[in-house]
Amino acid sequence: MEAPWIGRAFAGAALAAAFACANPGEPAAPGTTSRSSEAGVVVAGANRDRHGEQDVARYIGRLESEERVADLRIDVVVESLALPADAVVGDLGCGPGLFAMAFAKACPRGLVYASDIEPAQLDRVRERIHELDVGNVVPVLASADDPHFPPGRLDVVFVADTYHHLEDRVAYFERLRSVLKPDGRLAVLEYKPGKIPVGPPPDHKLPAGTMEAELERAGFTLVEKLDTHLWHDFEIWHAGKPRG
Ligand SMILES: C[S@@+](CC[C@H](N)C(=O)[O-])C[C@H]1O[C@@H](n2cnc3c(N)ncnc32)[C@H](O)[C@@H]1O
Repeated sequence: MEAPWIGRAFAGAALAAAFACANPGEPAAPGTTSRSSEAGVVVAGANRDRHGEQDVARYIGRLESEERVADLRIDVVVESLALPADAVVGDLGCGPGLFAMAFAKACPRGLVYASDIEPAQLDRVRERIHELDVGNVVPVLASADDPHFPPGRLDVVFVADTYHHLEDRVAYFERLRSVLKPDGRLAVLEYKPGKIPVGPPPDHKLPAGTMEAELERAGFTLVEKLDTHLWHDFEIWHAGKPRG
C-alpha cells in the first residue's frame, strides 16, 4: 500500500499556502465575518492569528484537509500521551478542534480546555461539540500572550503546529508553567524544520533547535522525543528540572 504522504507535492504546496504568513493587504473572501483590526479599521474576515491565512474559513478547511489529518496521526498522539481517564488537558492553539475532540474522547471523566486566539476557530470547535455530542470540551478565547488556562490544574498542555505562531515565546512558556500540575507535561507537535513537502515554507518555521533552546530557557526539560511522525517532531517536556 502506498504511504499516505507519497506523491503529495501538489497537496503539500496547497497546504503550505494555508500556513503562509498573513498578507495584510489581501482581500477577504465574501461571506466571512467582519472584525476590527489592530489599527481600528474593520476588515472583513480578518484572522486574529497574524501568522494564519486571512480567509479564516478557507484556513479552517485546509487545517481539516484529509491529507493534513492523516499526517497528524491524532490517534498515535493520544495513545503516546497515555492520558488517564480524568486528565485535564489544555489544547493551545486548538484550531478547529481536531485534537481537542480526541482528547475529550480519551478522557471521559476529564476536561479539555480548547484555547485559540481566533473566534472562528472556536466556532468550529463548538460545531464539533454539537455534532459529536461532547460534554467535556471548554472553548476558551486566548489573548496573544495568554491561553487563559486555569492555574495549576492541567496534566498536559498540548501544542500542535502552533508553537511558531506564538510571540515572545520564552516569556510565554515561562508563564505557561504555572497552569501545569507539579508533574504536568507539555507536549509539542511541530512541523520538522527545513524544506519538506508539506506544511509551512521553511522561512515561516523556526530554525532547527530554536524551539528546544527556547523551552529550556523557559524552564522546561525535554523528557522524550518520539519517532512517530514523518513530517513532525513530537516532543514531551516537563516543567522544571528532571527528577532523580
Ligand atoms: C496551524 S493552526 C493549528 C491548529 C490545531 N492545533 C491543529 O493542529 O489542527 C495554528 C492555530 O494557532 C492559533 N493561534 C495563533 N496564535 C495564537 C495564540 N497566541 N494563542 C492561541 N492560539 C493561537 C491560530 O488561530 C490557529 O488556530
